Order: sequence, then structure tokens, then C-alpha cells
Amino acid sequence: VQTIQVNLASASYPVYLGTGLLAEASLWQTHLGRGQVLVVSNERVAPLYLQALRAGLAGREAAVHILPDGEQYKTMATWSGIIDQLVGMQARRDTTLIALGGGVVGDISGFAAACYMRGIRFLQAPTTLLAQVDASVGGKTGINHAQGKNLIGAFHQPAAVVIDTGTLATLAEREINAGLAEVVKYGAIMDAGLFAWLESSATAIREREAPALLHLVHQSVANKAAIVAQDEKEGGVRALLNFGHSFGHALETVTGYRRYLHGEAVAIGMVVASRLSEQRGLCPGGTAARLCGLMRQFDLPLALPQSVTSEAMTAAMELDKKGLASGQRLILLEEIGRAVIDDSSSHGHIVAAIESCR
Ligand SMILES: NC(=O)c1ccc[n+]([C@@H]2O[C@H](COP(=O)([O-])OP(=O)(O)OC[C@H]3O[C@@H](n4cnc5c(N)ncnc54)[C@H](O)[C@@H]3O)[C@@H](O)[C@H]2O)c1
Repeated sequence: VQTIQVNLASASYPVYLGTGLLAEASLWQTHLGRGQVLVVSNERVAPLYLQALRAGLAGREAAVHILPDGEQYKTMATWSGIIDQLVGMQARRDTTLIALGGGVVGDISGFAAACYMRGIRFLQAPTTLLAQVDASVGGKTGINHAQGKNLIGAFHQPAAVVIDTGTLATLAEREINAGLAEVVKYGAIMDAGLFAWLESSATAIREREAPALLHLVHQSVANKAAIVAQDEKEGGVRALLNFGHSFGHALETVTGYRRYLHGEAVAIGMVVASRLSEQRGLCPGGTAARLCGLMRQFDLPLALPQSVTSEAMTAAMELDKKGLASGQRLILLEEIGRAVIDDSSSHGHIVAAIESCR
């Protein structure tokens, strides 16, 4: 078992990594607390991994709440169902909630744990690559509103994260590749060594060799932990994690959240952002090409579809700004491994970068 400690002002917790960890009783025992246990999973993940988790809980009684599968269920109604179950089982403040699943299960469960009695103990057992390298670490929880993604939520840090990379064996290839986009992101914004390792290990990664997967999850979590430790609530450097996301979110919005997985939209967003960085003279020529070369190995989309106009993209970006009064805040690259927060790109710069990515 490898352990990465996330050290925050408000809390400090371990992220455990390895294969077969769901069934590792010693880990769960350490973090369960005394009260009742509720496992939240979904109809796809539970048949695959609930049994292994039960083995890890080693006879400890646990209630189970199964959600329907899909981002469209990341809603108030689904969240309410978890709260209803907690009330129904007369759960007290010493209850532990365990999320077993991808980012959707983790985000909804975490938000239920944040709200029930103003906060109960929460453990994450992420089962998608995206959730393992990103969503399960850092304490962002929440649900969608009909008018926008993740509009309702809270910061609620887990007491521990148990990453069983063995669960990736059943994950669809497209989901793996989408998760890899976020790994490429860590390399691009802050870890040139990781980026170069991804380039030289692409074949091993594509073949899902266990040591390669373990290494990339480890490096991703370590990078995310380092950023979150500096800036828990996104007042500063945590914004660097949004590299590619302003363009990516806009693309997801414009295409109605149906065409692209989040990681795929982020991949295209990173291409646009790196082109913009080049066009503004912030980073050396060839940076975008290098990023594309790596992401091509993971079958990620790299170009914007003709049907998506730059007007539609910039309008969606305007709405996505989250309270920034004027101008567009973007994350741009100075080189592979170093990113900056940029407030000085004009509408014209942005349109030119979008148009260069057809
Ligand atoms: N909290 C954060 O910091 C944060 C960060 C990034 C993304 N997110 C959120 O995460 C969500 C996306 O997460 P995701 O990509 O994990 O999607 P997801 O949770 O929908 O999982 C993708 C699909 O894989 C299935 N699945 C999960 N584990 C599996 C396994 N081991 N084998 C086979 N199938 C499996 C799921 O049931 C689902 O059908 C979004 O809602 C996004 O907003 C949150």
C-alpha cells in the first residue's frame, strides 16, 4: 500500500493506493469510527465491487444505498434519497458514509455527508480513473441544478481516500482515456517529469499495465494534494487545475453534455489554451503540438468540430466565469510543466485561438 498524505489547514487525511485495497480490512478499520456505516454506490458499480468492499468491512454491519447510474441523476432528488435513508436509519453524527463509485457517486455522497447534521465522516472509494486522479481528492462535493453543472455544493474533505486501482480493469476504454486527459493536465501545468514519463510510457498505459496505472495515479494525487494543500478553497494556485477547463466547459455546454465526456472536452480545451499561449508568445512554438502528440496516443479528441462556432464558445465561456466581473480568466502555459493565471487575453485572442483548432 502506498500512502499520500493530504495536509490542509482544516484537515489532514491519507490517500491509500494499491490493487485489491477495497478488501483490505486494516485500512477500513482505521477510518470507520464507532457509529453506523452507509455505503453509497450505483447500479453499475455495486454488482462489481460491493462484495469486495464488504470483505474489507470485515463483518461490520453496513447499510447500502444504490443510485441510478449517470450524470443526469446528480440532482437534488438523488441527494434527498440519501438524506432520507440516513434519517430512516436514525443515523447519528458518528455515522460514516462511504462513496463507492465514480465522480458522480463521490460528489453526491460527499454533499450528503457535508449536509447531514452539518457534516458526518466521509470516506471515498473511487472506481474511475477520473475520480482516482482528481475528483476524490480535495473536498469539492456537489450536485447539478437544471440551469448549470455543480451549482450547488460544499467543501467537505474526506477522512480518507482508498484507491483500488484494480477497479480500473472493468472501466470502459473511453472512460480511461478521458481520465488520462486530467493526468496529462497535471504534467502540463506543473510536472514536466510526469509529462515526459507519459510520453515514454504511452504503450504500457494503453495496455493498462498495472505498475504504469499505479504510477500515474500516484503522481496525479501527489500533484493535486500539493496544490490543494496550498490553496484549499481556490483563492489562488488551485485555479491552475482549471487548465483547459474554461474552453472544455464551454464545449460541453454548447454540445448539450451529450457529445463529449468531461475529460474529452478538457483535452480539446487544453489544445485551445496551449495554442493561445503560443499565439500570445507566452510559451515556445511546438508546445501545443507536443501536447497533441501525447493525447493522440490516448485517442483523445484534439480539434473543435466545425459545427461549434467561436461565438457560441465565447458566449458559454462568459456565463461560466463564476463571478469574475470583467475579462476572461484563463490558465495558460509558459512551457510544459509550468502554467500561469492570465487575465489579459482579449476577445480577439480567444477567437483566434479557437479558430486555429478546427
Ligand atoms: N469533486 C471534484 O473535485 C470533481 C473533479 C472532477 C470531476 N468531478 C465530477 O465527477 C463526475 C464525473 O466522474 P466520472 O468521470 O467518474 O463519471 P461517472 O461517475 O459517471 O462514471 C463513469 C461511468 O463509469 C461507471 N463506472 C464507475 N466505476 C466503474 C468501474 N470500476 N468499472 C466499470 N464501470 C465503472 C459509472 O457507473 C459510469 O457509468 C462529474 O459529475 C464531475 O462534475 C468532480
